[in-house]
Amino acid sequence: MINSEDVVLCPVTPNDYELILAWRNNRKINFGFYSQATGHEISWEEHVAWLKSRNEDWLNFMIWFHGRRIGAVTIGNLDHWAPEIGYYIGEITLWGQGIGTEAVRNALYYLWSLCGKKWARTTIIDENAGSIRVCEKLGFKKIGPARPGESWYQTDLQLLFAPPKQE
Ligand SMILES: CC(C)(COP(=O)(O)OP(=O)(O)OC[C@H]1O[C@@H](n2cnc3c(N)ncnc32)[C@H](O)[C@@H]1OP(=O)(O)O)[C@@H](O)C(=O)NCCC(=O)NCCS
Repeated sequence: MINSEDVVLCPVTPNDYELILAWRNNRKINFGFYSQATGHEISWEEHVAWLKSRNEDWLNFMIWFHGRRIGAVTIGNLDHWAPEIGYYIGEITLWGQGIGTEAVRNALYYLWSLCGKKWARTTIIDENAGSIRVCEKLGFKKIGPARPGESWYQTDLQLLFAPPKQE
């Protein structure tokens, strides 16, 4: 069983850029990204420009598992009442072991405990059953349509991390 402590989030550094590009261009991973639906191969220059274009309201974490970098979590719109989370496990042989869920849980805990956020959101392509399941396990509810073939999901962080006490 995977515990949250096994899965550590550390800020992305330029040393991680090459690995992230390889993951972003991997069809088995990027099928879950709406922006990659065209199958466009991202060049190194586009990739670095994209990373550098991110503003202060955007956080980018590497997921470390047992001392190795195995994926990434991003948090956008940090100034919004419900920041937007994105995630992938780049090392696909590790899928289905609970690591994705624990990585997203850790990012949500960061938002709740350090940023004081009460809600978090994400968009998921409707065919992405694995990602929908990750979100279900973290209390996300579908709240409505996003772009065609994609839906918005939202979770209540208070309920996730400080559930009401049972009498
Ligand atoms: C989505 C992703 C992060 C999940 O990571 P993971 O480490 O495999 O996630 P977990 O093991 O914590 O949980 C996956 C859950 O989805 C379920 N699942 C996986 N594929 C599924 C499918 N095709 N249909 C139904 N359920 C599926 C698993 O059984 C598991 O549920 P369970 O714990 O109830 O058995 C990973 O598959 C990934 O990186 N995908 C590509 C990128 C992506 O889609 N990112 C999300 C963009 S919104």
